[in-house]
Amino acid sequence: LARGVREPDLTGRHVVVSAGGTREPLDPVRFLGNRSSGKQGYALARTAVARGARVTLIAANTALPDPAGADVVRVETALQLREAVLKAAADADAVVMAAAVADFRPASYATGKIKKKDDQEPEPLALVRNPDILAEISADRARPGQVIVGFAAETDDVLANGRRKLARKGCDLLVVNEVGERRTFGAEENEAVVLAADGGETPVPHGPKEALAETVWDLVAARLG
Ligand code: CTP
Ligand code: CA
Repeated sequence: LARGVREPDLTGRHVVVSAGGTREPLDPVRFLGNRSSGKQGYALARTAVARGARVTLIAANTALPDPAGADVVRVETALQLREAVLKAAADADAVVMAAAVADFRPASYATGKIKKKDDQEPEPLALVRNPDILAEISADRARPGQVIVGFAAETDDVLANGRRKLARKGCDLLVVNEVGERRTFGAEENEAVVLAADGGETPVPHGPKEALAETVWDLVAARLG
């Protein structure tokens, strides 16, 4: 592992990384959430700092130490994450969406705690769609040549699903993980294939999240030229 002895090939670059998982509140004490730990996003932020980049880390509900040298912006919901990403992406050379963004949020927010009633079944939970941040920033690039990277956790036909998702999102690179029992979420290690819009396919063997992060930055740096 060549960590720490890399060329500072991101010097002078501003990169934005989103990490963690959004929480969509139902009432003051409850939310809909997901199991993303933020470890992969933090590894991306740390390795980008080591390679000389100015790093904005947009952290959604993580419980990890701030990476030294990164600007950390904390958010909770998908809508807050969208605002923070759009703002930071305005002058960014690359944006990596490692965060797990909730696809849906509760249609309404109860300002007081939702109480159960003795003789009544609960109301069904109404949800509305959240905006697709990755698709939005890819369709409307803040800067020409900005490199945009998405992450996808897939089951079943992992590569075919990944190819379709890459095309649908319009980003430059998509890191595809195969998920299953005890894989990826909260784990220290990762295994993935990075698909490129130009047809490239880079397998990343099972290993630490830093190694996958370094491969992502190698591919980003090559595209920044
Ligand atoms: N993403 C996003 N905004 C959303 C949902 C996802 O920016 N509202 C980003 C994620 O950060 C990730 C990528 O899109 O980088 C892929 O997320 P994924 O959940 O796999 O994609 P979806 O389009 O939501 O597809 P699925 O129906 O499989 O969940
Ligand atoms: Ca999703």
